[in-house]
Amino acid sequence: MADQFDLTVIGSGPGGYVCAIRAAQLGMKVAVVEKMPTLGGTCLNIGCIPSKALLHASELFEEAGHNFSHLGIDISAPQLNLAQMMVHKDETVAANVNGVAFLFKKNKITSFTGLGSIAGPGKVKVTSDKGEQIIESRNIVIATGSVPASLPGIEIDEERIVTSTGALALGAVPDRLLVIGAGVIGLELGSVWARLGSKVTVVEYLDRILPGMDSEVARQFQRILQKQGVEFKLSAKVKSIDKQDDGSLTVRIEPAQGGDMQIIDADVALVAIGRKAYTQGLGLESVGIVPDERGRIPVGPAYGTSAEYIYAIGDVIAGPMLAHKAEDEGIAVAEIIAGQHGHVNYGAMPSVVYTNPEIASVGRSEDELKAAGIDYKVGKFPFTANGRAKAQMATQGFVKILADVATDRVLGAHIIGKNASEMIEALTVLMEFSGSAEDLARTTAAHPTLSEAIREAALMCGDGAIHI
Ligand code: FAD
Ligand code: NAI
Repeated sequence: MADQFDLTVIGSGPGGYVCAIRAAQLGMKVAVVEKMPTLGGTCLNIGCIPSKALLHASELFEEAGHNFSHLGIDISAPQLNLAQMMVHKDETVAANVNGVAFLFKKNKITSFTGLGSIAGPGKVKVTSDKGEQIIESRNIVIATGSVPASLPGIEIDEERIVTSTGALALGAVPDRLLVIGAGVIGLELGSVWARLGSKVTVVEYLDRILPGMDSEVARQFQRILQKQGVEFKLSAKVKSIDKQDDGSLTVRIEPAQGGDMQIIDADVALVAIGRKAYTQGLGLESVGIVPDERGRIPVGPAYGTSAEYIYAIGDVIAGPMLAHKAEDEGIAVAEIIAGQHGHVNYGAMPSVVYTNPEIASVGRSEDELKAAGIDYKVGKFPFTANGRAKAQMATQGFVKILADVATDRVLGAHIIGKNASEMIEALTVLMEFSGSAEDLARTTAAHPTLSEAIREAALMCGDGAIHI
């Protein structure tokens, strides 16, 4: 007889594994099917976690080389041990994926290793080198995530022409790294290799970096990255990449609207032009689910697909491709299946670029408020006027708070600065509770902290900041 479950989750990324744990906590008998040997999906294995391990290590490497002497710490020039840096990254990944395996055991979740496909209503087939197995399940959650988008005519080998996966595992620092796409992956991984010694050139199709982010923040950030030595070729597209026998790459780029071709020589090219939903081999046709024009699975407000008892969450559905978005949807759908009222507030969903300085935002950008014709006010405070930032040599950037003119309610917040990823949480909580700029301005911030800049920006929405 086939194994029987209340819920089977296909995919063990942050959407899938979190959904499984929440469902088990709510009393369901849960199975997870994962085709990779380890749990945790893109995020833990080849995404968020390994990239942050390399971002942290490379940032310290750069600080040791540039800032230590000013702080009175005289050391000889730091030497890069790339192999050990990769060991740190791999150990970080292993600790996290093993942590998910531990949580599965703790919550009595049954884990199947193999390709999961829907074999009709209430049936999931697991295919592995051990053969095929059918699981019977009242509910199915599809959490199969996404994979890198590819450029026509450009073949990825993950050694010289790489996606983020190859860029997280290069065996040597390339002298010249060409990054295609000035989005989150391009700028985070471009920063890693620039800090370790690569000459980084970023080719971006649009006339700006980080599309979707507040454009004032993006402009300032581009200037900061240029000071760090990163070169940008905006409004440009890559036409072809030829591999030369000496190991180099000849990259032909031309203006986005057409025009004269330019040649750039590189040693490694990183294709980071977005990710696409992954549903290959899933058997959606067996239950009549038809992906949308971008390959994503259409769902209703309760994450239900067109097939009864089959739900989808995370990168495989519409919305920002973020780990915490997938996690929140995982919790919500588990609660919905259990008859509760799971809910995700997409209006208070933070987003972070983990560069140096970091960029963090929540809510709407100034561009979006303008386009929507909303009457807003801006409270802005620079880190140059913050005591702690001066002490830490971290005066780049600012906090910008956007609040409704009529109600003072905070509509969006954008931070560019050190530790922005941690600071944004205060603004996310405020927005979750529909707070006002005055609420924030009247909340004590410990002194001296970078977070005082948030309070000062909130004061700027009213009568004015104290320290500027
Ligand atoms: P995934 O994590 O992609 O997991 C899907 C899982 O399903 C995979 O393990 C896959 O093997 C499995 N699977 C697919 N099909 C099947 C099948 N048929 N049968 C069995 N298993 C299957 N987001 C952030 O919020 N913060 C970050 O700092 C961040 N950094 C990133 C850095 C990089 C380099 C990359 C590439 C992404 C990063 N992201 C980050 C995005 C984040 O990784 C994704 O948004 C997140 O992983 C989506 O979770 P998910 O559960 O929907 O899918
Ligand atoms: P992205 O969507 O962030 O950026 C892709 C960039 O490539 C865009 O600027 C786009 O205009 C450009 N582009 C597209 N086609 C192009 C072409 N042919 N030539 C030149 N430029 C082109 O996608 P990215 O960076 O690949 O990341 C994928 C996803 O992973 C993102 O949606 C992001 O949310 C997620 N992610 C999140 C991270 C975080 O939260 N810190 C870190 C890394 C990834």
